[in-house]
Amino acid sequence: MRNKIVAGNWKMNNDLLQTEELLLKLQEKKFKKGVQVMVAPTFTNLWHSVKKLKNSEIEVIAQNMHFAEKGAYTGEISASMLNGVGVNTVILGHSERREYFNEEDSLLKKKVDAALEHDMTLIFCFGEKLEDRELGHHFEVVRDQVKNALFHLKENDWSSVILAYEPVWAIGTGETATPEQAQEMHHFVRNLITQGYSKDIANEVSILYGGSVKPDNAREIFTKADVDGGLIGGASLDASTFSQIVNSF
Ligand code: 13P
Repeated sequence: MRNKIVAGNWKMNNDLLQTEELLLKLQEKKFKKGVQVMVAPTFTNLWHSVKKLKNSEIEVIAQNMHFAEKGAYTGEISASMLNGVGVNTVILGHSERREYFNEEDSLLKKKVDAALEHDMTLIFCFGEKLEDRELGHHFEVVRDQVKNALFHLKENDWSSVILAYEPVWAIGTGETATPEQAQEMHHFVRNLITQGYSKDIANEVSILYGGSVKPDNAREIFTKADVDGGLIGGASLDASTFSQIVNSF
């Protein structure tokens, strides 16, 4: 059975006080049993969030990290620094990192390796832009993103990988992929893993959908066979809407 996961990507939102308020509200919520809940505050609020959620089932995760162990990389954060504050899961390859910080497959491959070397779980994001879909290239784009950064992994590495399909045209736009479009891409990616590895491995990997997931569309998306949860942006900044999404399973 694959894990059901809903993760909130808070992006560059919420200062320390706002983070604290949101954490308090989240702790009051009842989440459906059997769904793993994660939140990704900004780096400066990670340590505080880990301490606040010490007795909670909600996992605190990071939005990004550098591939190097340490050194002259001004402004960057390493895997061991994350481990040191109790963070053991990291989002990699978000489209905003790809778009605004020029993160390419070759760099992401190094980040993937660094995360695994530190026994971290990674949420690897991929997804096509609007023009890719309009040209009918979306499957090729996604295939290349997934293969280039992940297909050098050993079979047992896959137990530390969560995938997240986030079509760029659906992020923060209010325009969500239809449940059928999400299912079609998730199924395509699961098949890729079957071909590159095995059916068993493919069947164990959780694939999340991200892009304008809201309480009113989550249920229909989550019921699709190959959709194992969501990576939520805007709607995760409010405890009520986020918990409604988690409880849509
Ligand atoms: P929205 O839910 O705001 O569209 O963002 C999705 C996302 O980028 C999650 O990582």
